[in-house]
Amino acid sequence: MASQSSQWNNNTAFLLAATGSAVGLGNIWGFPYKAGENGGGLFVLLYIFFVITLGFPVFMAEVFIGKKGKSNPVSSIETLAKKSKSSSKWSIVGYGGILASLIIAGYYAVIAGFVINYGFISATGLEAGAAAAVYEAEKANFWEMTFWFSLFLFASGFVVANGIDKGIDKAMRFLLPMLFVLVIAMVGYGAVAGDFSSGLNYLFSWKAEDFSAGTIQAAIGQAFFSMSIGMGTLMAFGSYMPSNQKVSKASAVVVTADTGVALLAGLAIFPLALGLGFSPNAGDTLVFVTMTEVFAQLGSVGQFVGPLFYFLLAVAAFSSMISILEPSVAYLTQKHSMTRAKASTYVVAFCFLLSLISVAGHNVWSTVSIGALDNPFEAMKYFADDFLLLLVGTGMSIFVGWRLEKVVDADTMGINNKNLMSLWVFVLKVISPIFLMVIWTLGNLQILFDIRFF
Ligand code: PFF
Repeated sequence: MASQSSQWNNNTAFLLAATGSAVGLGNIWGFPYKAGENGGGLFVLLYIFFVITLGFPVFMAEVFIGKKGKSNPVSSIETLAKKSKSSSKWSIVGYGGILASLIIAGYYAVIAGFVINYGFISATGLEAGAAAAVYEAEKANFWEMTFWFSLFLFASGFVVANGIDKGIDKAMRFLLPMLFVLVIAMVGYGAVAGDFSSGLNYLFSWKAEDFSAGTIQAAIGQAFFSMSIGMGTLMAFGSYMPSNQKVSKASAVVVTADTGVALLAGLAIFPLALGLGFSPNAGDTLVFVTMTEVFAQLGSVGQFVGPLFYFLLAVAAFSSMISILEPSVAYLTQKHSMTRAKASTYVVAFCFLLSLISVAGHNVWSTVSIGALDNPFEAMKYFADDFLLLLVGTGMSIFVGWRLEKVVDADTMGINNKNLMSLWVFVLKVISPIFLMVIWTLGNLQILFDIRFF
C-alpha cells in the first residue's frame, strides 16, 4: 500500500525542506575548512562564481525533473524520457542519485554523531591543549561512535517515516528558524570575542598564488554538495511542489540561503580561530580540534558557547539527513508500493550498515586502504562526493538540456524572458557538461592516480 500524500500541503514547504537540506554539515563544517585549506578568499570567490554559473542552473534542472515528472528520481526520469521519446535508460541517472544519497547517508550520520558527542565534550570543559588527544581518543572508540550515529540516524528515519507533511515539513518548520538564530548568535559571539576584521579579511582577500586546479575542483565539488545537487533529493522535493510554485524563484531562494549560511559559518569560525591565535587551515579537523581548542581556551564561557556551536551543527546536519533519506524512501514507496514505515526501516537499516563501515574506517579498519584511498570512510566519501555527484549532475544537465528541450516550459520554470530561458538551456546543454566533465576527469586522475596537470 502506497498511501502517502504526494504534494506538500503549502507553498513554503519546498522552500523550507530544500533549504534544510542544503544547509548542513557542508556549510558549517565543510565550507570553512575547505576555504581554510585553499587559501581563504580565492576559494570563496570561486565558490560564489560556480554557485551562480553552474550550480544554480543544474539545481533548477534537478527540481524541474521532479516537478514535471511528479515522482521519485527514477520514475520522474522515466516519465519524462517517455514524454520526450528518449530511452528509458536515462533512469540510470536517477539510480545514480539514489546510490549517492545512500552512501552519503552512511558517512554523514557518522560525522553528525561526532558532532553530538562534541556538544557534550565541550560542555564538560576541556583543558587547554587537550583537544587533539581527545579527538584521537574519540575516533578510536568504535562503540561510542556507533552509539552517537545510531541515535542520529534513527531519529532522522523516524521523521521521514512520518511522511512529507507530518514528518518532514513539520520538522523543518521547527529546525530552520532555530538554525538561523543559532548561526547569527555564533557570528555575533565571534565578532565580540574574536578578531572580526581578521576573519573578514581571511574570507574575502586573496593572493594569485592560491590559484590551482585543486582550488577549482574543491570549489565546484563543495558548491554541488552544499546545494544538495546530484542525489535525487531536489527531484524528490520538487515532485511535491504545488503546481503554482515556480522552479526558478523557489530555487533562487534556496541557493541564496545556502550560500548565505556558508558565508556566515565562515564569519562565525574564522574570527574566533584567528582571534585566539589558531591557524584556520587544519583541514577536516577544523571544527573538531581547532574549535574545541578555541572553546577550551575560552574557559567557562566556552562550556556554554561550545555546546551551542555543536548544537547548531547538529540541527543543520539533522535537517539535511532527513532529506538524504527521502529519495530512496520515495523510490521504495512509489515504485515498489511499500508503506513509508517499511521503506524507511529498510533504508535506515541499509544506511546503518554503511555507517558501521564508515565508523570502522576511523578505527578498526583505519589502515585498510581501498586503491589510493586511505580507508573505507574516505572511499565512501570519495565515491559519493567526487565520483558520483558530478556524474549525476552532468547526466541531469544533459538530459534536461538535450532531451527535454521541448518539455521545459516557461510556466513551470517561472521564466518569462525567452533569452533567459535559452541561456539556461544553453548552460545545461554545453557549458555545464563540458566544465563538469573536465573537472571530474582531472579530479579523479589526481585522487586515484596522483596525476596532476596544473
Ligand atoms: N547539502 C548538505 C550539506 O551541505 O551538508 C548535504 C546533503 C544533503 C547532500 C542532501 C546531499 C543531499 F541529498
